Formats: sequence, structure tokens, C-alpha cells
Amino acid sequence: MIITVAAFKGGVAKSITALHLATYLQTNADTLLVDGDLNRSALDWSNRGSLPFKVADQDDAVSLAPLYEHIVIDTPTKPNFEELKSIAKGCDLVIVPTTPDAIALAATMQMVELLRELKANYRILLTIIPPIPNKSGKEARLALKNAKLPIFKTGIKRLAVFQRAALEGVPVNAVNDPKAQVAWRCYAGVGKEILS
Ligand SMILES: Nc1ncnc2c1ncn2[C@@H]1O[C@H](COP(=O)(O)OP(=O)(O)O)[C@@H](O)[C@H]1O
Ligand SMILES: [Mg+2]
Repeated sequence: MIITVAAFKGGVAKSITALHLATYLQTNADTLLVDGDLNRSALDWSNRGSLPFKVADQDDAVSLAPLYEHIVIDTPTKPNFEELKSIAKGCDLVIVPTTPDAIALAATMQMVELLRELKANYRILLTIIPPIPNKSGKEARLALKNAKLPIFKTGIKRLAVFQRAALEGVPVNAVNDPKAQVAWRCYAGVGKEILS
């Protein structure tokens, strides 16, 4: 399965999502993460610590791809229409992460319009959801559902342990922190939805 993580807005957890889905998919079969982020997020992450799957840049991806069952592609922010077209053509699923705020949701709606035009298979993932009593996660989910858009049942909570994982260069399930398993269950839930 080839999955691409893409969004028009930066800071919506594209790289963290790509990295944790690769961690989950590796438990199922050999997985390659292609780091197409201009910030080289996943490659930096793996240089700091260690990741349980193979990470490659786009140049090496072409020769490596046939060796892997699952491929997750992280992309730079705001692909143009032509880039989005090749993204949509070249993968089985486009995941569009969005935080539950008005600016990110507006950017998501723009991207969804183009993905529809391209007849892409896509699903929206709510990320960095603030804890209750904040209602933005619930409200955003309702708005996306009312618009009849495909959305993962699982949402990703805002948890500081994700930043610790980045510092340590490991996936969140390898961090020694009381919240590590709560954080991991979010992405494991998304992974299960993808494979089911
Ligand atoms: N669930 C989360 N909880 C808390 N912080 C998060 C979460 N997901 C991402 N972040 C933080 O948000 C920032 C942006 O994440 P990143 O994956 O780099 O986004 P993008 O690739 O879309 O720019 C990073 O500092 C990251 O640590
Ligand atoms: Mg990124």
C-alpha cells in the first residue's frame, strides 16, 4: 500500500503522522518512509535516534520502493496542482491531516476540492486536538461530517510526549513517559482503520 500525507498548511502534523503510520505499518510488513519534506523531518528524526522502519529521501526511493510492502510518503507544505496530481495518481490513499482550527480547516477544504477533482482516494485526519473542555476537536469533526467528507474515526490528541519523541529521535511508543501509550494508541487506531 502506498500512502501519501499532504496538506496545504504547515504545522498540521504531516511529518509526525507519516512517521507514526510507518511505525504502525512496519508491525504488519516491511515499510519505507519517503521523506519528501523540505525540512527533512523524518531523516533528521532517524539521525537523532532510531526508527523501526527504513527512511529514504526521494532520490533513493525509486530504487528502494520495490523492496517494501508499504510506502508512506511525507510531502512539503502546499503542493501545487501538478504536484497534487502526481501525488494522487501515484498512491492508494492520500491522508490530509488538519488541526481543528478555522485556518487549517479552510486549507483542508481547498485541498479536498482539488482531490475530488482528481478523483483521489483521500481521508481527513484530525490532529493536535486540544483536551477537553476545549470543544474545537468535536466541532471540527461535526463540521467535516456534515459536509459528508471522509474522515478517520480516530483523532490525534495534542500531547507533549510527541515533542519528546521528536527530541529523542524515536516513535512515541518508545518514549518512557506515562502518556506514551495514550499517544501511540491514537496512531495505532488510524493504522488499524487503514488496514481494515
Ligand atoms: N499530537 C501532537 N501533539 C502535540 N504536538 C504535536 C502533535 N503533532 C505534531 N505536533 C507538533 O507540531 C509541530 C508540527 O508537526 P509536524 O509533524 O512537523 O507538522 P508538518 O509536517 O505538517 O509541518 C511539531 O513541533 C510537532 O512536534
Ligand atoms: Mg513536515
